[in-house]
Order: sequence, then C-alpha cells, then structure tokens
Amino acid sequence: MNKLSIVGAGMVGEAAAQIIARDELCRELMLIDVQGELAQGKALDVWQAAVESGSDTWVYGGSRAELLQDSELVVITAGVPRKPGQSRQAVLSTNLPILDGIMQDIKRHAPTATVLVVSNPVDVLTYRAWSLSGLSRNKVFGQAGVLDTARMKCFIAEETGFSVRDISALVLGGHGDSMVPLMRYCAVGCVPLSNFLSAQQIGHIVERTRNGGGEILGLKKLGSACDAPGVAIAQMVDAIANGRNRILPAVAILEGEYGREDVAMGVPCVLAEGGLTRVIELDLNEQERAMFDGSADQVVRDIAEMKALLGLE
Ligand code: LAC
Repeated sequence: MNKLSIVGAGMVGEAAAQIIARDELCRELMLIDVQGELAQGKALDVWQAAVESGSDTWVYGGSRAELLQDSELVVITAGVPRKPGQSRQAVLSTNLPILDGIMQDIKRHAPTATVLVVSNPVDVLTYRAWSLSGLSRNKVFGQAGVLDTARMKCFIAEETGFSVRDISALVLGGHGDSMVPLMRYCAVGCVPLSNFLSAQQIGHIVERTRNGGGEILGLKKLGSACDAPGVAIAQMVDAIANGRNRILPAVAILEGEYGREDVAMGVPCVLAEGGLTRVIELDLNEQERAMFDGSADQVVRDIAEMKALLGLE
C-alpha cells in the first residue's frame, strides 16, 4: 500500500501508527489531527521509532484535510473517548459532527479510499460513514470484533492456563453491552472450550469480555484502552494492505445476512485487497440467534437516535 492516513492522532491513533510504521504496512503514513503540531510531533516520534526496526515507512503529520490526498485507506480514530461509567453511545452527540466533517474531507480529497471507522459508538458511526460515502460496504467498515476477540482470548488464557497461540474465539454483534461472544465457536487447539471450563467459568469470561473496555476505562479513568485497539487496527490494515484474505470480525453493513439489513454489526468477514470482500453467515442456534437479534435491535435503536440528532427522521 502506498499511502494510509489516520485521522485522529490521539492515543489509539498513535498506538496504531506505531505498529503500522514498524511493520511497514504502507510506504507513507499520514497522521491528521485538528491539533496539527501534535500530529506532526507524534509522526516524527513514530517514524524515528520505526527506523530502529528497519522500516522504510515515512511518517508525516498535520491538520490540513488536503493531506488526505492519494490515501488508499483512511482510519478514523478521531473523537472524544467516553468517561468511566458512560456508555459508548453517550459520546455520539460529540463524535457525530466530527465524523461527518471527516467524511466530507475524505469525499473531497480521497474519494476512492477505503475507510476503517474506529471512533465510538463504532457501529453507529460506521453506518453513518457508509451512508455519507456513497460507496459499497466493501469500502467502509469498522473495527470492534478484533479487539473484543483479543480480550476474550486473554481471559480464556487466564482461566485455562493454555497458550493464546492455540486459542481461537469469536465475538459478534454490537460493540457494547449487547455484544455476542460465540462460545460454541471458541476453542483451544481445536478442542471446544466446554472441555476445559464449566458453564459458570465461561459465563464469567463472557461478562468480562462485554465489559472489557469499561474495565480498562474504570481503572485508567482519564482515557480508554489504546494499545489493544491499536493492534486490532494494525491487524485489519495488514490483512488489507497485504491482501491476505483473512477471516476477521468487523463492523459490516448487513445486506440481508443474519436476516438483517440497513444496520452495521460485528460479523465475521473476509478482509483482502480491496477491503471487506465478504460477510460470512453462520448457523446460529436459538439462543445465539436471540442474543444476535437483541444486539441488532439495540444498534437499530442507536442508529435511530443518531438520525433524530441529525433531524433526519
Ligand atoms: C474499548 C473502547 C475503545 O472497547 O471502545 O476499549
């Protein structure tokens, strides 16, 4: 990939930039933030760190929207993080106009770029970005599930004592209290998790995963998680930039899959050259289907709240 831009040089944007530059996932990495000098300073720091890894990614920063020019992929991390005790939806009224402004800039300066939305509430903002872009869902999607899955793997490793290298996990649904950890699809070395853990232990992992972001926020107080979100972004970027054809969970616009449409939800997707090339539909059992529908209904309500804020409906 020639050029990738990250809009929002806060903690998450910087964490992602470090890995993207270190792993040489693009030739040029642009950090854009309303605080232009901060973005420039962070860009220099990230670049100089990447140099030590032998990376030839050049990193620049600034505030001007024209800096987006020629970007093949734009990652949006701009916006305020929630405060301890707040839901992700609580930052909607602040982050919605920020997202709208960024989408205008992207349409003007990088209209063919693929867009990865990370800012919260990520399901609603991914839906909004896609609506504004006029692009297909292959080019506009969001990050949540890779992070939620990493959290779940961490808790499974802690509970079982097994290496994370052998743990696979899957989380569907909205990025919030209604997320749907699919324990039937979680395994250690291909052996179902229920071989190792009791229903109570699994229930504990599910709860902790749902509250994974809130737990960190409650402890850090002044900021939400940034390192694991940064890694999650970099994994998705790597899959696209290197055309890996990976199956990763992403926030995708549904077009009839799982019986839903006109909503953005976390589902397993194929990430490849060109972006999100396929949504994978799973056979859910009755209980999983009920949880998925509950989560989808919540996102639909959140999208309605966004439309009300915009005076759209
Ligand atoms: C989290 C926030 C960033 O899950 O959504 O940590």
